[in-house]
Amino acid sequence: MAEPRNRYSMVSLVLHWLIAAMVLAQVLLITAHEATDGPLSREFVQLHKASGLTILVLTLARIGWRIANPAINLPDHMKRWEKLLARATHVLFYAALIVIPLTGWLASSAAGREISWFGLFQWPLLPIGGGRDAARDLMDLHELAVKGLYVLIALHVLGALKHHFVDRDNVLHRMIPLIPRRP
Ligand code: HEM
Ligand code: HEM
Repeated sequence: MAEPRNRYSMVSLVLHWLIAAMVLAQVLLITAHEATDGPLSREFVQLHKASGLTILVLTLARIGWRIANPAINLPDHMKRWEKLLARATHVLFYAALIVIPLTGWLASSAAGREISWFGLFQWPLLPIGGGRDAARDLMDLHELAVKGLYVLIALHVLGALKHHFVDRDNVLHRMIPLIPRRP
């Protein structure tokens, strides 16, 4: 039987931090869009769409990788409910990182707004109708799911900090290998 692994692969680490950085960029792009007017402002939304769809593709790849390389064990000192909360947060992250870009994509498709992937090619629109009304409802879902994502991020970061400063275990080290490993 294979040994249970106790560290994340390089692929998992790169995908974790790349996606986390891109989620932050998504919020900054929308902030820049709201702070500007005219063509520049529309360009920020275009970048938000292209980068958001890239997050969708990376998340699907990440889920595939995660299925092929099952989770590493959480520390033994964690109580059952703590492990459940950690795992539930991770699963909900994956769900949010699919629902958020998908609702954005569906909204653009419903309104018939073309999406350019960083000016390189036209991203296909999904075959749904509904016009502006459907697009508005889908954008409400987009915003609601983003609020859910903020709650998950808060829980997740608080959890990571508790591991590091209260439990003083190696959970943060295994996601940030630059942090020295504790004995
Ligand atoms: C993980 C990926 C994404 C994240 C984290 C994200 C996040 C956000 C946030 C925080 C807002 C502002 C919501 C508000 O005003 O309360 C927003 C708005 C928006 N998003 Fe996304 N988004 C993502 C992907 C996408 C995608 C893939 C599309 C379209 C293809 C899209 C289209 C839009 C549009 C059109 C708006 C409204 C912009 C405006 O105010 O005119 N988003 N998104
Ligand atoms: C948008 C931001 C973030 C997202 C979407 C995210 C998502 C995730 C997901 C889905 C996992 C589970 C990986 C697996 O499938 O096993 C994970 C693990 C982890 N994340 Fe994040 N993360 C984010 C930001 C952060 C930040 C800012 C920190 C540090 C303060 C952090 C620390 C960790 C740690 C330590 C683990 C490992 C947990 C374990 O060992 O099981 N994450 N993250």
